[in-house]
Amino acid sequence: MSKPGYAADQNPRILEGNDLKALAKYMKSDSCQNVFLMLGAGVSTSAGIPDFRSPGTGLYANLARLNLPFPEAVFEIGFFKKNPIPFYTLAKELYPGRFRPTHTHSFITLLHSHSLLHTCFTQNIDTLERRAGVPAHKIIEAHGSFATQRCIDCKTPFDADKIKKAVLSEEIEIPRCERRRCKGLVKPDIVFFGEGLPDQFHKSIRNLRKADLLIVLGTSLTVHPFASLVDLVPNDCPRVLINLDEVGDFNKPDDVLFLGKCDDIVRELCKELGWEEELDAAWEKTKDSLDADKQERELEPEPEESTEDEVEKITKNLEQALKVNDKNDEKQPSSKVSDVVQPELVE
Ligand code: APR
Repeated sequence: MSKPGYAADQNPRILEGNDLKALAKYMKSDSCQNVFLMLGAGVSTSAGIPDFRSPGTGLYANLARLNLPFPEAVFEIGFFKKNPIPFYTLAKELYPGRFRPTHTHSFITLLHSHSLLHTCFTQNIDTLERRAGVPAHKIIEAHGSFATQRCIDCKTPFDADKIKKAVLSEEIEIPRCERRRCKGLVKPDIVFFGEGLPDQFHKSIRNLRKADLLIVLGTSLTVHPFASLVDLVPNDCPRVLINLDEVGDFNKPDDVLFLGKCDDIVRELCKELGWEEELDAAWEKTKDSLDADKQERELEPEPEESTEDEVEKITKNLEQALKVNDKNDEKQPSSKVSDVVQPELVE
């Protein structure tokens, strides 16, 4: 269970205490109107989507053993242009529609239905916030998402059904621009290392000055500029960290940390708010957000320990794709996958 605690040793000015009861009391008071959220990959791990940096289960820890120049290369634009196969192999495993939103995602919809949610800033590309039912205008996908895609050269949008079919096909077909004179690589609108964040992110961060409460969930706060959002709320705005481990720099009087699994802590908070039944009802509805074939096979969310299996499977598939890629480099290209690794085609 969560270990409530102040980050700082000063007494709080706004919250009456450092536990979930005090937080719930504040959230129900007239002083709390605008709640802002900051989400990271830790919010989706219980859905079966690995995070990036958790030791052992994090994607980067597992990609490190592949012959990528560095684990993050899978999301680096320069590397993608030369070899899109690792990214598309990973995309096939993580493609939206296969994963069900978590209880934490459903909690966000309750903040909205109780007119408390101002903005949900997320680093996640899995679209689980919108699949849980959070209104799109309340979500800022700071690192983009799989929701849309376009040619990286001429920026022409690409059809969603076509890319999903190409990515999920038996042998991945790397989607290319359909404009005859272009044929550039198509990439989902995910922000790669080396690319700028969406204008919508830069336009919306000024709203943080209206925050009455900031809740940071499931992130290591290692990637900027997203991580620096924590410093943009008013000085007297309580900031709450809900995370497996202590991260960031929370040392203001009303900073409170709840260390543990976000689904568990969110459920405890909902109990204090009197929202537990609503939470379960909201999560029940998320089954409809899965692709039809997944719905039939829908089981209770796999226990978190299967995240390791998930990462192991992803890593093995990536390793296979990279080996195929190396072999094709030596001989004449024969398979579809090899079409895109010819240097003259992707320069
Ligand atoms: N409950 C609470 N916290 C969790 C859970 C969980 N069930 N599972 C993991 N965590 C925590 C981890 O302990 C870690 O502190 O979530 C955090 C996830 O951190 P990262 O893996 O670094 O993910 P994130 O912070 O989202 O990464 C930021 O890095 O590579 C880029 O663009 C990518 O958006 C990503 C960015």
